[in-house]
Amino acid sequence: MKRREFLATGAVGAAGVTLGSPFLLGGSAAGANDKIVLALIGCGSRGLGCIINCCKTNENVTVKTVCDVNRTKLADAAKNIEKTFGYLPGTTEEMQTVFDDKEVNAVWIATPEHWHMPAAVRACQAGKDVYVEKNLSVNIRESRKLVEAAAKYNRIVQAGLQNRSASQGFSAREYIQSGKLGKVVTVKTYFMLGGGQFTEAPEKPVPAWLDWDKWLGPAPYRPFSPSIVSEHGRGGWQNYWAYSGGELDDEASHTIDLTRMVLGDPPHPKSVYAWGGHHVYGGTGETPEFQSVVYDFGDYILTADGGPAFKYMYKAPNSIRNDAAKFPNWRNYSARVEIYGTEGLMYLGRHGGGWQVLGQNDKIVAEDGAVFPDTAHQKNFIECIRSRQKPNGDIEECHRSSTLINMGNIACRVGNKQLLFDGETEKFTNDGQANILARGTYRKGYEIPEDV
Ligand SMILES: NC(=O)c1ccc[n+]([C@@H]2O[C@H](COP(=O)([O-])OP(=O)(O)OC[C@H]3O[C@@H](n4cnc5c(N)ncnc54)[C@H](O)[C@@H]3O)[C@@H](O)[C@H]2O)c1
Repeated sequence: MKRREFLATGAVGAAGVTLGSPFLLGGSAAGANDKIVLALIGCGSRGLGCIINCCKTNENVTVKTVCDVNRTKLADAAKNIEKTFGYLPGTTEEMQTVFDDKEVNAVWIATPEHWHMPAAVRACQAGKDVYVEKNLSVNIRESRKLVEAAAKYNRIVQAGLQNRSASQGFSAREYIQSGKLGKVVTVKTYFMLGGGQFTEAPEKPVPAWLDWDKWLGPAPYRPFSPSIVSEHGRGGWQNYWAYSGGELDDEASHTIDLTRMVLGDPPHPKSVYAWGGHHVYGGTGETPEFQSVVYDFGDYILTADGGPAFKYMYKAPNSIRNDAAKFPNWRNYSARVEIYGTEGLMYLGRHGGGWQVLGQNDKIVAEDGAVFPDTAHQKNFIECIRSRQKPNGDIEECHRSSTLINMGNIACRVGNKQLLFDGETEKFTNDGQANILARGTYRKGYEIPEDV
């Protein structure tokens, strides 16, 4: 395999971190308390926050190495872990160093989206278990390849779609399956976020804190712009198709995945229609400022509407996220899902929003509250690494959810069209350009091979 990127250059070695269970590397179950050694790839606020919380809330779990191509974030992450746990992890700018380290049981991948699948497939090939953030993929083929790699190398792969471990997801699914909502007629999901005009700043020389070539990795080479990556924060990479899939990818990946889960994980839809563009602020980002997507599931239609254009809509505040007795004000809740059955309307939220069913005369006929599910999802990952059971964020189902995001974006990118989809082959049947986008392209040396 050609792996220009994967030349081992980094230094690894962490005081205070001992060898992880050898059983796990071979794919066999380990004891409930066997030590698990993790490495973090992508030290932004998401990855670092999650891995620290995971080590705090699970016994005998440590971080041996942190890896980032942003030297500032890399150093900050190591210091942060030392401050929290009293040991300094090793640091590397080269993820292959982590894959080659036999002491590491599992990797936590929290890079931007264009790196998720190339990194996760290689992690499986190296015998690591994987936690990989949403949206899993930037095209349809690559997350299918991760499904194949997880099966081939007998790996535990948890998708970072944490609502798969949310108590309200399980109870809402049970409620719908019991028939109390009646027959599902239509389903509406929203990702109505605040935002403004995105305009790319002029190119600049690559700053000293960044390995820009490695950050781009599989994506086409282009000059550095401070609009894409920032030293301390996230930057604007989400506005570019090469690295992400916009707000549909960032926000609707959660609501659409949770919706699939409570509907009993339906197979792929028969078609997608999407409309989107820069009709709100006239920005120059590639991903839409507003997007409206319609998926045809045969018995019902699922819609997703949103973008960064709605200042009056809100994500659930911490007071709701951490209190199972509280529900959002559904009307201005940005991540609302509405499942219309013949007997009632279910409002469903992520961020611990819970669900409520509205019956006749404005009456709430059933409800279940919840708390933010990150800790539960991380715990499930660790338990599954030890038990070798399938995790809640099962990669096959989460690949299907990620496929909906990619379908919605591809339908916009080929000119706001309706695309027919063959669920068996995971290909579009009426647009050749759409199939090229569904396969994606990779810089030489970063390809995901047919046979993983
Ligand atoms: N599940 C959730 O609720 C949730 C919440 C926030 C973010 N996320 C996801 O988590 C991921 C990270 O988000 P973030 O906000 O922390 O973004 P970020 O851009 O701040 O962090 C990503 C980090 O990955 C690093 N990186 C890029 N290429 C790399 C490479 N080749 N090797 C090592 N590191 C590399 C970047 O330098 C950066 O520090 C994204 O995929 C995002 O969609 C998920």
